[in-house]
Amino acid sequence: MTTEASVEAAAMGDASGRPLLVARAVTKAFEGLIANRDIDFEIPRHSIVSIIGPNGAGKTTFFNQLSGVYHPTSGTIVFEGTDISHTPPHEVAGLGVARTYQNIRLFQNMTVLANVMVGRHVRMHGQWYGAIARMAGIRAEEAEAERRAFGLLELVGLARSTSSELARNLPYGDQRRLEVARALASDPKLLLLDEPTAGMNPGETKQMTDFIARLQRDLQLTVLLIEHDMKVVMGVSERITVLDYGEKIAEGTPAEIRANPRVIEAYLGKQATA
Ligand SMILES: Nc1ncnc2c1ncn2[C@@H]1O[C@H](COP(=O)(O)OP(=O)(O)OP(=O)(O)O)[C@@H](O)[C@H]1O
Ligand SMILES: [Mg+2]
Repeated sequence: MTTEASVEAAAMGDASGRPLLVARAVTKAFEGLIANRDIDFEIPRHSIVSIIGPNGAGKTTFFNQLSGVYHPTSGTIVFEGTDISHTPPHEVAGLGVARTYQNIRLFQNMTVLANVMVGRHVRMHGQWYGAIARMAGIRAEEAEAERRAFGLLELVGLARSTSSELARNLPYGDQRRLEVARALASDPKLLLLDEPTAGMNPGETKQMTDFIARLQRDLQLTVLLIEHDMKVVMGVSERITVLDYGEKIAEGTPAEIRANPRVIEAYLGKQATA
């Protein structure tokens, strides 16, 4: 497994009790449209936190800022004490933030195993600056990456026999799992999952939900989830933040959110699965 670093961090403890990530007054404007307005948000270490809200509420936009894909128009995002508000995505990944995408973004014409190994890349030292003298070290690093990649495929429940398939030939649910394996390959502290159960059948959804809980429980990961399936959200989240028209309208435990009239009005009332 690839989480020695996070387990070690957990063992060292976080005496400060500081959240892993803190967003303050984050606003993102796209020309005329305010997609996120003044959002304050924290993710405690080793927690599972969810963001819910209607289509277009600004959930993915917020994720894109946490992972460096977009930068806030104003406000700050601090990850483990480092201000990442204007940090490019590969550097944010290097600091320990990994994500999956709402619309699957695998390398469709690469093998399953290669897709996972690409995810490892932010942690490998790369070849471009390596002198020949370093080649042996790089090969060892790649062998180790391959070993870990197989471990991750197993962890997410993909058969070893799929490793040489092209990603595009996997069924949809397996592609979602592969995305998670690729994200985990970078050995993140924080895993951002954008609708990981979208398009899954109830059996696959249940499996994914259990898997997310295991990531946090067994691997000490911190998980931030965007999800429309309320069974998933209410089942795994410690805290839930609700966005509507780009604003945070509520935050609390699943029980608090379920009973919040404003949330029911804006979102839950319209959910068949609520
Ligand atoms: N790059 C962009 N340029 C212009 N507008 C954008 C951009 N990205 C998002 N938006 C707009 O910002 C708003 C929030 O979109 P976002 O994708 O964050 O919503 P969401 O809550 O993730 O919705 P969904 O549940 O449908 O995935 C929408 O009105 C969207 O059209
Ligand atoms: Mg979205």
